[in-house]
Amino acid sequence: MANRGEQWSSKIGFILAAAGSAIGLGAIWRLPYVAGTNGGGAFFVIFLLFTLLLGTTLLLAEFVIGRRTNKNAIQAYKEIAPNSLWHGIGILGVVTSFLLLSFYSVVGGWILTYFIRSLTGGLTDPATGDFGELFGSIISNHWEVGAAHLGFMLITILIVQGGIQKGIERASTLMMPLLFILFLILVIRSLTLEGAMEGVTFFLQPDWSEVTSETILFALGQAFFSLSLGVSIMVTYSSYLSKKDDLVRSATSIVGLSVFIAVLAGLAIFPGVFAFGLEPDEGPSLIFTVLPAVFSEMAFGSVFLSMFLALLLFATLTSAFSLLEIVVATTSKSDPAKRKKMAWSMGLIIFLIGIPSNLSFGLLGEWLIFGDTFFNQLDFLVSNILLPLGALLISIFVPLKMSKSALQEELLRSSNLGSGFFQVWFITIRYIAPIAIAIAFLNVLGIL
Ligand code: PFF
Repeated sequence: MANRGEQWSSKIGFILAAAGSAIGLGAIWRLPYVAGTNGGGAFFVIFLLFTLLLGTTLLLAEFVIGRRTNKNAIQAYKEIAPNSLWHGIGILGVVTSFLLLSFYSVVGGWILTYFIRSLTGGLTDPATGDFGELFGSIISNHWEVGAAHLGFMLITILIVQGGIQKGIERASTLMMPLLFILFLILVIRSLTLEGAMEGVTFFLQPDWSEVTSETILFALGQAFFSLSLGVSIMVTYSSYLSKKDDLVRSATSIVGLSVFIAVLAGLAIFPGVFAFGLEPDEGPSLIFTVLPAVFSEMAFGSVFLSMFLALLLFATLTSAFSLLEIVVATTSKSDPAKRKKMAWSMGLIIFLIGIPSNLSFGLLGEWLIFGDTFFNQLDFLVSNILLPLGALLISIFVPLKMSKSALQEELLRSSNLGSGFFQVWFITIRYIAPIAIAIAFLNVLGIL
């Protein structure tokens, strides 16, 4: 079934919404802590390489599928390859989005709680003066984080049930530019803290001796995570695009914005980590201890902190919208009459499935599966296995099932790039991407 005429009202609206899906906790929360636990600079360089080379290529591949078919993430594969199992890529994407949102919304809830506390003075003056301890006490307060988790999901459901244009696009156009501005202010403060340079060195100077096969898989997973790739979300978003839009320009803008935010996040967090004598490898709590500390060193710090948290909450929500959107678009078969019901039922189930992730930081903290908490294992499964697997399948599907002429036509439509660009893209999607992803998998399994 086609999308029944739902379309983005402007090109910039699409870019902002797709960039809104990409930019979120991935660059701002996950990248700093995963880089911090994987050696810093070397991880960041590998992540950048994967993002620029494979990320851009796969983003274009998802765009081509979506715009060619104007169908949702499952129907799109069915149209291109009827009577086959290829639409399994779409199903895998929906299941992955479902699982991802279940723990993403937990962290979204932390941001919501931090934001509310920042307004009521519950963050700026912790009794012990220790922001790490404050995080620990908030996170083990089950009712508070549980309510925030639910609150975060309710906002997501309310926006997604309203449909594409009215909800997602309008809000993105306003909030994303503000986030960039506030981030710049934060980076300037971080870089001027005493001892900041040690953080910059940690973040930007690669120490290759720290690199293991796991580092490479983590960097690959992070690259896909922060561009929302491998789950056919970009297929769904580009299915609302018109034929006039230039896919290559859109993709490069999205990758550019996302890399820019990743660099800003690193430059905001790591100088703070070292200036305050914190550890870069403290894990998921990293930004929650560093950010309030950096803001506390600023004039009007509590005002800026509240603003920053509001914008971070927004960035997190725009990513959550995309995750719920793909689940709703496919389960409602793009039928607007079913959108509301599906948004509520799926959203609430995802919330329930997220509860063990939430409790991983408290009641279920001792419940280890293969040596790690439920939250960490689910994140590992989704980010380092399912996202790269989805991307691998897409990179096999596109050159195999779509004709070269159709690909070239779709990719270069409304673009002034020549066929040389197309050839480079085609070789990357056909050979480099699948081989690189397969090597990363085999390497970590110890087979290569
Ligand atoms: N890209 C989002 C972020 O970096 O926060 C997270 C995400 C959204 C990942 C959607 C995957 C996805 F399909």
